[in-house]
Amino acid sequence: MEISRRTFIKKSTQGGLAFSLASGLYLPRTVWGANEKVNVGLIGCRNKGFNVLKDFLNTASVNCTGICDVDSKLLEERTAELNSDFSQSPKTYSDFRKMLEDKDMDAVIVGSPDHWHCLHTVNACQAGKDVYVEKPLANSIAECRVMTQSAQKHKRVVQVGQQQRSGVVWNGVMDYIKDGKLGKLRQVNIWANFNYGIGAKKEDDRSVPQGVDYDFWLGPAPKRSFNPTRFHGNWRHFWDYGGGLMTDWGVHLIDMALWAKDITTPPKKVMAYGENLSFEDHSRETFDTMSVVFPMEDYVINWQHTAGIQSGPYDMLYGVEFVGDKSTIVANRENWILKLEGSTDKEEAEREASPYRKTSPHNDMGNHVRDFLAAIKSRKETKCPISIGENVAMYAHMGNIAARTGSGLLEWDSERQAFQGNKEANDLLMPEYRKPWEFPKA
Ligand SMILES: NC(=O)c1ccc[n+]([C@@H]2O[C@H](COP(=O)([O-])OP(=O)(O)OC[C@H]3O[C@@H](n4cnc5c(N)ncnc54)[C@H](O)[C@@H]3O)[C@@H](O)[C@H]2O)c1
Repeated sequence: MEISRRTFIKKSTQGGLAFSLASGLYLPRTVWGANEKVNVGLIGCRNKGFNVLKDFLNTASVNCTGICDVDSKLLEERTAELNSDFSQSPKTYSDFRKMLEDKDMDAVIVGSPDHWHCLHTVNACQAGKDVYVEKPLANSIAECRVMTQSAQKHKRVVQVGQQQRSGVVWNGVMDYIKDGKLGKLRQVNIWANFNYGIGAKKEDDRSVPQGVDYDFWLGPAPKRSFNPTRFHGNWRHFWDYGGGLMTDWGVHLIDMALWAKDITTPPKKVMAYGENLSFEDHSRETFDTMSVVFPMEDYVINWQHTAGIQSGPYDMLYGVEFVGDKSTIVANRENWILKLEGSTDKEEAEREASPYRKTSPHNDMGNHVRDFLAAIKSRKETKCPISIGENVAMYAHMGNIAARTGSGLLEWDSERQAFQGNKEANDLLMPEYRKPWEFPKA
């Protein structure tokens, strides 16, 4: 007989095990009925977080029991949408800590801006929730570290929102490379040129929109007056909240270069150039023009972005080129092409690639979400566990730090978790949290 969750909790409570009253923690669900649904909550409801929640609900194997945002208008709109489109009636919260007190909530989606990921994730782990956290894992290297420690300490299943790990295109590419078909992989060239990377048109500071708790939105970031060009969606172009295209797309695409050789360690060196060279009427701190080189043991990863344009090599605005001795692969989320060295015969190349083309539907997000939901029940590792999210976030943040400090070359000391001999760069490893928020302990 399968023990339902409630019976299990009741039995455990009787045995004095389930709730630790002193710490406020409780025992997360460990036994699942065959068709028992996962109860999920969402923190950050505007854009990606809400889309991820819809992917969860489309599996028909979850209930949405809570949604949280600091913008009350959004909470109202999202509640109405969940009600009409998914017959869900979640409780609404303006303070994530209140939502995390819900003992029946199994997992949370963290869809807040990057500067909030650490506090949201660590608190969720401490409350015994499994976590689907959007990428990049966090807005600094030190925050990523404590998040991984927290997930490990509290034995939480985490899926980082790098859905390419569950993507049919990328899995085909990886199989091809790992079967040695490319020959020796020596360069991975990555580019991401997007219009939005220059930020929004400049505007004056103004009063906070009605229904928004702006101080709570800022959270641990420095206090400043309200400006729409730094708020919803636009925050990613300001260092206090995000890292520009380098972290926004870098973690997706650099991850492909690391996966190709199963690299799970940070770079030893990084060289970078980053500047704002154009579109002065747009509002941003992060760089519109950037090149970063990661010299690896036996290959080199090259990153570049030119924000404000919507075109790029191979007529692709973003992409990854894997250059090997025998062939080259050019890939994006929709497709990959193979070019055989010394041959221009496209049909021959397609014959070679076709056994590696996956036929399953192009639904990277759906696959990624289902993988997480299965891992909640099996307690097995997800396709993108927190260690992978942390590692690639380090590459992206190191690129930004090298460019911001104009260091030319930075060398990373893994033992000390610091750059060698560069105080300015080391000062950017960890943000100073604004009171009353405190940098969390695992
Ligand atoms: N995986 C992907 O392909 C992908 C795509 C887009 C965005 N993202 C990631 O998703 C995250 C969100 O990005 P977005 O574009 O949706 O941003 P957004 O600004 O549109 O939405 C963020 C939401 O979080 C809310 N929020 C802010 N502080 C909060 C707090 N303390 N408590 C509760 N809610 C809070 C905001 O009010 C807003 O509703 C980012 O980390 C981003 O990098 C991932």
